[in-house]
Amino acid sequence: MAVRKLAPEELQPESFSFSPETEAFADQQIAKYPPGRQASAVIALLWKVQEQAGGWVPRKAIEAVAAKLDMPVIRVMEVATFYTMFNLEPVGKYFIQFCGTTPCMLRGAGDIKKVLERRIGESGHINPDGTFSWLEVECLGACSNAPMVQINDDYYEDLTVDNFEKLLDDLASGRPVRKGSQIGRNRSEPFQAVNTLKDPSLYDGSVVGAWRKRFEETTPEGPTEEPGLEQRAAENPRAAKPDSGRAIGRVIETPANRAAEGKPPIDAKDRADAASKDRATAVEPRTEEAGIKAPESSKSYVANPSNPEEGRPASTMPTTPVAGTPPSEAETRRDGSESKPDVVVDKDNKTS
Ligand code: FES
Repeated sequence: MAVRKLAPEELQPESFSFSPETEAFADQQIAKYPPGRQASAVIALLWKVQEQAGGWVPRKAIEAVAAKLDMPVIRVMEVATFYTMFNLEPVGKYFIQFCGTTPCMLRGAGDIKKVLERRIGESGHINPDGTFSWLEVECLGACSNAPMVQINDDYYEDLTVDNFEKLLDDLASGRPVRKGSQIGRNRSEPFQAVNTLKDPSLYDGSVVGAWRKRFEETTPEGPTEEPGLEQRAAENPRAAKPDSGRAIGRVIETPANRAAEGKPPIDAKDRADAASKDRATAVEPRTEEAGIKAPESSKSYVANPSNPEEGRPASTMPTTPVAGTPPSEAETRRDGSESKPDVVVDKDNKTS
């Protein structure tokens, strides 16, 4: 996208004031918004002043809009320079926006562009008699009738070199022109013969509801529908929880169960052996001898063994604050503030 700047000073008018029509339009737009939100009308007002100024937005018009909406001028300037719908330099009596996006290019927009360059000149400049200027823009949303241009407020579609040359001739000489498709197409109807969706029943209303009618005809007692959730629940109640009725595959090994199944009771020695701490999975102590460095900060995370007597180093820090200690001074504080430097504020409100 080209850099969007205001027109040079020599092109800018000395002043700009709202016409009575623009003034009334502005008041009407502002009234749409709650008090204090009048800035929401900025785009509508810029659009209107562009129309009043002959198709572009001079600096003085931007300032007038800012004053009307009680906005800083730079805020209005930001909007005007952002949206390409606002022209920042004078345009011709017929301002042509030429679509140069892919669908139009595939349908011959390149030839239309050559006509513009030959007849009007470089993009962004007005031709010598002030009749035309043109600009290449992105897709204007009429791709199905490509290639196309927008001239002032209207679309001209299905262009060819011949019909576009004629269109420009007619506009230049003030003759009436045809808007929309230049080959007589009605909106975006098929370009050639219609070969889909041709069944007349699609359009006479007979298809609507036909599926239900057919269903009723095949079942003498009328429509039968799948039972709903409530009906199915009433016919086949199920327990909400596994323990409240349905069998579950849980086996509990108790002495009584073992006896019922004919198994011998578990030997007392085996039971004591299984419960021994010596049989538990051993955990090596986290010591420097084991090659693992202890945490350097006493305020970082510290391994706190549940059984210090088993050999792992126990933290000397209390796990809970001493009663009466302010939370900010508690040794166990772990909210991140313990790693921040203390900030002192002196009487002049300076920090150190
Ligand atoms: S690509 Fe030209 S109108 Fe969409």
